[in-house]
Amino acid sequence: MTTTDDVTSPEGDHHEAPSGEASGPVPASSVKLPFGRNPRHFGIDPDSPWPDDVPMDQDDTHWRFEENPKGARRAELRIAACWTITLLASIAVCAVYVTGANNQLAGLCYGLAFGGLGVGMILWARDLLPGHEVTASRGHHEVSEESFRVAVAESFGRGTDAMARRPFVFKILAPAAGLLGLGTLFGPVASLGPRPHTDLYKTKWGRFTRAVDQDGNPIRPAELPVNGILTVFPEGHMDDALSPTLLINLGDADFHANPHRPGWNLQGPYGNVVAFSKICTHAACPASLYNVNTHQLICPCHQSTFDVLETCKPVFGPAPRSLAQLQLTTDRDGYIVSVSDYTRTGGGPVGPGFWNRG
Ligand code: FES
Repeated sequence: MTTTDDVTSPEGDHHEAPSGEASGPVPASSVKLPFGRNPRHFGIDPDSPWPDDVPMDQDDTHWRFEENPKGARRAELRIAACWTITLLASIAVCAVYVTGANNQLAGLCYGLAFGGLGVGMILWARDLLPGHEVTASRGHHEVSEESFRVAVAESFGRGTDAMARRPFVFKILAPAAGLLGLGTLFGPVASLGPRPHTDLYKTKWGRFTRAVDQDGNPIRPAELPVNGILTVFPEGHMDDALSPTLLINLGDADFHANPHRPGWNLQGPYGNVVAFSKICTHAACPASLYNVNTHQLICPCHQSTFDVLETCKPVFGPAPRSLAQLQLTTDRDGYIVSVSDYTRTGGGPVGPGFWNRG
């Protein structure tokens, strides 16, 4: 059953037959519409009865093949064929993803699956359900009369009865729709690829890897002046995009070490040297602008600002996480080395955590 909005006159009154006329269907052409609009603009045929006057007792019990069981059976088979296509195409969608997603093929299978489902439903509605369209006003926005509500419930029941008479098509529809839903969920999940596990934490830093400057020279803590900042790389891996790390000598500034990272920085007469990933956790730009007055690192791309004294916690901008910290020590020659790669304890993975991991 379809309904139409109740249309009111400019004064807000509901239209009704002009006084003095005999009751009965009122031509739509005699109804005043707001703003003097032509009824045709509302898709209303001026010569047809106004929707309020469409009788509610229209016969909606008949369906297309009611008198033709063979035709009904053929319609049922056509619908079943459509939904079988949906079923097979849904299986194919899953298979395409399992065997290595081919976007064109997946799109074709999705097209067949949804197309079969849609065409089947159209045929079902056209051939096997009571097909009489009933139009009625929404009334006056009050609770309908009891007789109307009973009529609607009965009409709805006739529709569901018609479905219940066709268990065969339901037996096809249920697995087809289920598999299509499964394929639709499975595809995006399968597209995520294998779980990265600890791969996200892997850079070229490792156990006792020397930190070297851009010329490949190792660094001793005392060579970094107070408030000095230096970009270092793991020795032998100057070109690794994930590894650039900032050494900062904080001097006697009040650095609040993370309690889970005791002894991760180097302290001595030279000051307090800490190491943080240079890769911004927002979109992987190098966060390399250091304000010595506030001890803040600023990423030039979108102005994310990291408080170095608070273990590079973001205090402004879109970066969602702190810069990862690298644990430092010195080797027997006094050069700065990493204790290990970046770790979960250090706030890793470096950068946004998902980039450049193809
Ligand atoms: S990449 Fe650093 S703020 Fe966007």
